[in-house]
Amino acid sequence: MNIPVITIDGPSGAGKGTVSRLIAQKLGWHYLDSGSIYRSLAIAVLNQNINVDDVQAIVLAAQKMSLQFDCSDQLRVKLDAQDISERLALEETGNTASMIAAVPEVRAVLLQKQKDFQKLPGLVADGRDMGTVVFKDALYKVFLTASAEERAKRRYKQLIEKGIDANLDRITNDIEERDRRDQARSTAPLVQAEDALLIDSSTLTIDQVVEKVMNLVR
Ligand code: DC
Repeated sequence: MNIPVITIDGPSGAGKGTVSRLIAQKLGWHYLDSGSIYRSLAIAVLNQNINVDDVQAIVLAAQKMSLQFDCSDQLRVKLDAQDISERLALEETGNTASMIAAVPEVRAVLLQKQKDFQKLPGLVADGRDMGTVVFKDALYKVFLTASAEERAKRRYKQLIEKGIDANLDRITNDIEERDRRDQARSTAPLVQAEDALLIDSSTLTIDQVVEKVMNLVR
């Protein structure tokens, strides 16, 4: 059966999450925030005090973890029955996620967990390698980006709104560092799929980006 998929890849803070959620709502399709799977594993790794270099232990943690997603309103995630939603957005979680995401064995274990989201009537999948690896045959592919400066400002605003303490310079450095790591890794690096539509959201509103993606689907 051919279940349609729209992939929205790009660096962190480009607006993928908000845009993907809105598109999924408009179409009545399912939504996969693949970064939250890497972030959940990062929380499992931090909880178990596993060293980020200990590939075997991280792979084991990935195989053992049980995740429950509730995407109805705000994304809520349970890791082994414990609600970890509030910890997902923390910078520590994102940085650890980016480090463990560079390990090919870890990506292999998480592949099926992501593919399982492809259900009728369709899926909007957001991440780094949705269009290049996980859903290579997707019907529609988008690469959504924005300047590092703009992305850092957005992340800063998001954190402050959530009541989380934040520092703009540190966030800018973290974002640049994370971009470098996500782009330089040998397995499934962050790259634009050949058949993806490039959208730079630096000077666009969310609605304008959504409209561009909807035009592609129409
Ligand atoms: O999108 P995000 O910031 O929640 O993702 C957190 C990290 O997870 C990101 O720095 C790299 C990794 N990731 C990945 O390697 N592949 C994906 N499809 C999604 C996220």
